[in-house]
Amino acid sequence: MASKERELRVKPINNGTVIDHIEAGQALNVLKILGIGGHTRHVVSVLMNVPSGAMVAKDVVKVEDRELEPEEVDTIALIAPRATINIIRNYEVVEKFRVAMPRNVIGIIRCGNPNCISNSNEPVSSRFVVESMDPVLLRCSYCEFVLDKNIADHLL
Ligand code: CTP
Ligand code: ZN
Repeated sequence: MASKERELRVKPINNGTVIDHIEAGQALNVLKILGIGGHTRHVVSVLMNVPSGAMVAKDVVKVEDRELEPEEVDTIALIAPRATINIIRNYEVVEKFRVAMPRNVIGIIRCGNPNCISNSNEPVSSRFVVESMDPVLLRCSYCEFVLDKNIADHLL
């Protein structure tokens, strides 16, 4: 199968977390949500546009020697609702789960209303209630602004 051949470009990892079935184009946003930037000390592999059976193409992120908790990864559902989290120990997948849409999104997304208190110099974290999951619709808890498009562009 072509997809298997392509995936062998990056070898299986010994320990850590594989975020699989990310919507193609969202891998860098996934890294952003996880707070993984240029200064990470972990070995991180990013695969983009890997051919996949169920989807036309997918992105995959592998973070070695770090086991991500559901609370850390659930926000990924905002931009990649079909992502699966695989916890790897000693080369084996010991846990596999889908990201679950959180009820609230705190401190990750910038409110689209420039006059919102969360966009001021006050020490107020942005806060949204997830009003609908498909399509994703977020409502600001402070100013009621509704965010329903280009959510990835509003990542802080
Ligand atoms: N993986 C890895 N290192 C390992 C084991 C698995 O990088 N030691 C990766 C695989 O390449 C795959 C993901 O983790 O991207 C999930 O592995 P596995 O469950 O074996 O693959 P599938 O059965 O294809 O998963 P799914 O059914 O979720 O598509
Ligand atoms: Zn607001």
